[in-house]
Amino acid sequence: MKNIIVGILTLIIIGLMAFTASNGHAYHGGEAGHIIADMGDKMSNAKTTKIDEKSDREKEDDKLTTLREKAGNVGAFEVSNAYKSKCSSCHGVNGSGVQNGKKLMGPKLFGQSADVIYKDLIDFKSGRKENMIMKGLLIKLSQEDLRIFADEIGEFPTRAEEAKKN
Ligand code: HEC
Repeated sequence: MKNIIVGILTLIIIGLMAFTASNGHAYHGGEAGHIIADMGDKMSNAKTTKIDEKSDREKEDDKLTTLREKAGNVGAFEVSNAYKSKCSSCHGVNGSGVQNGKKLMGPKLFGQSADVIYKDLIDFKSGRKENMIMKGLLIKLSQEDLRIFADEIGEFPTRAEEAKKN
């Protein structure tokens, strides 16, 4: 019984295959075949254009990023000699964390408030925030020194605004 059912199903399937083939659909490059080929072309075209567009936009973004970073994103203004000699090598002359389009070792400080900076510095000095570089630097500085650095860095955005006006 099973064999008979399987046999009949096989016949039906072969019959359908023969019917489709004789109609020239897809298999023989009939109308359906052309449509499928056209669709394939359009889809691959669409894909390549999208990729091109994206990489163009990415290139544009890269250019902008480089330009922004070159400008340090924040502009130039006066900083103390203490900041220049002790902090700028890693955090940038204006706290941008970037120099000549290259990211420096230290993060961006520009735009952070004096209190946040001060707390970070105290935490580094006490070891609550672990960073050997910062800790080593701050170990020789007093709490008042840290306050002065923090207040100066907190003032950077105001200084940048004023430098723009002049
Ligand atoms: C030798 C390089 C170097 C120098 C010099 C340096 N720093 Fe840093 N600084 C770092 C690094 C690296 C970090 C990141 C530490 C971390 O997140 O674990 C950091 C983090 C900080 C942070 C925390 C910022 C944040 O967003 O997390 C502050 C604030 C800071 N430094 C202030 C200063 C000050 C003020 C000076 C000058 C007295 C200074 N640094 C000098 C390398 C340096």
